[in-house]
Amino acid sequence: MDILFVGIDFGTMNTAIVASNGMRTVQQTVVGWPRDYVARKKLGKEVLFGEEVQLHRLALNIVRPFHKGALKYGSASSGGADQSGLERSKLAAKLILENAIQSVDPPSGHQILGVVGVPAEASVQNKQLLLELAREVMDVAVLVPEPFAVGFCQDQAQNALVVDIGAGTIDLCHLYGALPTEHDQLTIAYGGDYVDEDFMKRMAEAVPHARLALGVARSIKERHGFVGTELHPVPVSLPTRGGTPQIVDVSVPLHAACTTLADAVVDGLREMLDRLDPEFHSELLAHILLGGGGSQLRGLDDYIDSALESYGQVGVTRLHDSAFAGATGALRLAMSMPEEDWKAVQQADQRSGFRRRAA
Ligand SMILES: Nc1ncnc2c1ncn2[C@@H]1O[C@H](COP(=O)(O)OP(=O)(O)OP(=O)(O)O)[C@@H](O)[C@H]1O
Ligand SMILES: [Mg+2]
Repeated sequence: MDILFVGIDFGTMNTAIVASNGMRTVQQTVVGWPRDYVARKKLGKEVLFGEEVQLHRLALNIVRPFHKGALKYGSASSGGADQSGLERSKLAAKLILENAIQSVDPPSGHQILGVVGVPAEASVQNKQLLLELAREVMDVAVLVPEPFAVGFCQDQAQNALVVDIGAGTIDLCHLYGALPTEHDQLTIAYGGDYVDEDFMKRMAEAVPHARLALGVARSIKERHGFVGTELHPVPVSLPTRGGTPQIVDVSVPLHAACTTLADAVVDGLREMLDRLDPEFHSELLAHILLGGGGSQLRGLDDYIDSALESYGQVGVTRLHDSAFAGATGALRLAMSMPEEDWKAVQQADQRSGFRRRAA
């Protein structure tokens, strides 16, 4: 039977997919259902994805299924035992995966074999939930740690440390040419979403009369965010309570919020170095690879360099094409996995009574 391989980076904010037919897409990890019959009629759809959700947000009930890199309500740490909330998150996540697969135009009759990147230390319970979802929308699916997939998109011959800086988590992984063990991975419950919240909190204290919506805070961070020793003015126009828009310099709160992310990355790197044999430190320090949306933060490479210089010579590289690095690595893993291994996964599924539900 013909096969379509897919690699998926199933992130808190974005879901990227790359397929062996050369297609690739990235969309926000969000689903919207029309709020009422008026909205349904006007939109002409039962369910909306990605940018369309943003565009029609007032007319929709919106679900973002992940929080801090975990399925919402999937465990005590991600919202507790709310059964209907969990069912909603699962349905949303499944629809998003299905939509991602449809977006790469799978030829009819092809078997779909996929590798899905998930947070490095996702709980066993959460991994099981994600695996079940993936297996409902693909013929055979396996999960791999996200930063390992990110690293696998590189032709990296040396030992390296990969840092995947996402919206919900920062994931680190030691790459050395074999599948990583638990010991080689670390997840930090911090990411871009926390920076946005922190920036808003600092803005509310520093400029209480300015009104700053979450989406605006995020885009200011993405366009102007920076870390490092030099503070430069960042004038932005913001609406004010009961008044006209004003130009406000947001540099101090923005810099402070972005620095919390850079510090979390440095703490993670220090912890990884502490865990790993000092014999490898100089090689690892020289090959620090940054991926994920947060890797685009201005000044982050120099910040890491100076924070770790007491360990030795530091080399920080930002992976290019960071939106697709995880999905590309996952596809490479899928295509390099031996046929017998895919068959073994499939047979194990069959033994456990699993059947892919017809899409
Ligand atoms: N230029 C930029 N500067 C700083 N942060 C940025 C920039 N561009 C994107 N980001 C942030 O990167 C994050 C999204 O990155 P990414 O798509 O890798 O996350 P994700 O894979 O969905 O999340 P996770 O891996 O945690 O589940 C968001 O917080 C976004 O605001
Ligand atoms: Mg990610």
